[in-house]
Amino acid sequence: MKHTDIYNVINDSSLLNQSTTVCGWVRTSRNSKTVAFIELNDGTSLKHLQIVVDKEKFEDPTPYLKLGSSLRVVGVVVPSQGQNGGVEMNAESLEILGECPPEYPLQKKRHTLEFLRTIPHLRVRANTFNAVFRMRSILASAIHEYFQARRYVYVHTPLITASDCEGAGEMFRVTTRPWNAQNKTEEEYYQEDFFGQKAGLSVSGQLEGEMCAMAFGKIYTFGPSFRAECSNTPRHVAEFWHVEPEIAFAELPDVIEVVEDMIKHVIGVALEKCPTELAFFDKNFQPGLLDKLNNLVSEKFGVVTYTEAIELLQKADVKFQYPVEWGGDLQTEHERYLAEVAFKRPVFVTDYPKQIKSFYMKQNADGKTVAATDLLAPGVGEIIGGSEREADLNKLFAAMAERNMTTDEYQAYLDLRRFGSVPHGGFGLGFERLLMYVTGIENIRDVILFPRTVNKIF
Ligand code: 4AD
Ligand code: MG
Repeated sequence: MKHTDIYNVINDSSLLNQSTTVCGWVRTSRNSKTVAFIELNDGTSLKHLQIVVDKEKFEDPTPYLKLGSSLRVVGVVVPSQGQNGGVEMNAESLEILGECPPEYPLQKKRHTLEFLRTIPHLRVRANTFNAVFRMRSILASAIHEYFQARRYVYVHTPLITASDCEGAGEMFRVTTRPWNAQNKTEEEYYQEDFFGQKAGLSVSGQLEGEMCAMAFGKIYTFGPSFRAECSNTPRHVAEFWHVEPEIAFAELPDVIEVVEDMIKHVIGVALEKCPTELAFFDKNFQPGLLDKLNNLVSEKFGVVTYTEAIELLQKADVKFQYPVEWGGDLQTEHERYLAEVAFKRPVFVTDYPKQIKSFYMKQNADGKTVAATDLLAPGVGEIIGGSEREADLNKLFAAMAERNMTTDEYQAYLDLRRFGSVPHGGFGLGFERLLMYVTGIENIRDVILFPRTVNKIF
């Protein structure tokens, strides 16, 4: 269907005073004595195009004014008569492509995000989601750009796997056996299953990522990870998008440097390519967002060890719900205090106690901590988790034994420490958490298309 994107009609001045065809959905309309106005949107732009319908030409424009219906309009692009400048279109011909009945759930009023979550197939048409998903697309491309420009190899790690990378028991099982399969032991059950052994959906591509880094030097993954987290929080989904770079010949400070540089790059791209969307989020979701992002690009992120962070939290003049003790995991309230109050900017917490982190992290000389880091962001909490990896085979064995892990499924991973082991490290970025930070939207369910959470799948 030959037509011009509304984005181009609004932004390309060479179309001024030209007759042009646009298509789109009626977002609002108003009928007055001599003219009717239609706000038309085709999804290519957050801004609508105003169509002016002269009643001398169109005796009864009401069939074209129905909310949600789709139209093709031929008209002349003219400077807008309104106060806000820009352009509008004087309609010469109007055609209804698809009718929309009055029970259309997206009415003219501003709906709550909670209500919109109940209609995920339609909410994408609302302004908020136009802005969110354009931002998502631009940020995804910025991440690829960042790594591609630095010659990282983009690898696609398997989604079905036999090894649990994080060891947190959050793997979804993959099976083809019927629900009433009869077996005496678990082992027997899986022997007769599709893969002949227990399999699940990957929680992380890191283990395979490390194998590729040992071959290509620098790699990254960008794909879905799955976690059967039963916690129903605004920051967790069961299926999220995960960016996992892995770098050979890198120690923890090198990993931290890449994280900071990458985050600043992608936010710089957002500021450059999405000014309209960011202004929209600043106005409707997080006043001060633009200042926050502009400052972030020029400021150094904070860095603090876990041990220092615990001291800061213990001295804080705040009553936390969860206790603050060396050796315990940081809760969201602690993470937010550090990023929002103590540092007022993103902060790396480093060198966590080994018992609260994963088996693969490099053990520090103190015997108590590991060379790990989480990046905590104001308003969100942890957006990145990373570490230097344990490159010493015997220390890795010991860490696995402490966690009662069997080494069977990890033979390939262990081989990396046998055949030319090198210091290396990497991190995992939760793509939706980054989007929450950049848009100021507080619930992860509103930055992903069809959020999968405990007890909910659309
Ligand atoms: O901290 P995590 O568990 O680290 C790993 O998976 C490592 N293998 C990463 C690596 O070093 N290659 O997860 C990394 C990030 C978290 O910081 C968080 O942003 C995100 O993934 N994440 C989730 N996002 C949404 N919903 C969930 N259920 C998430 N679980 C983790
Ligand atoms: Mg983590």
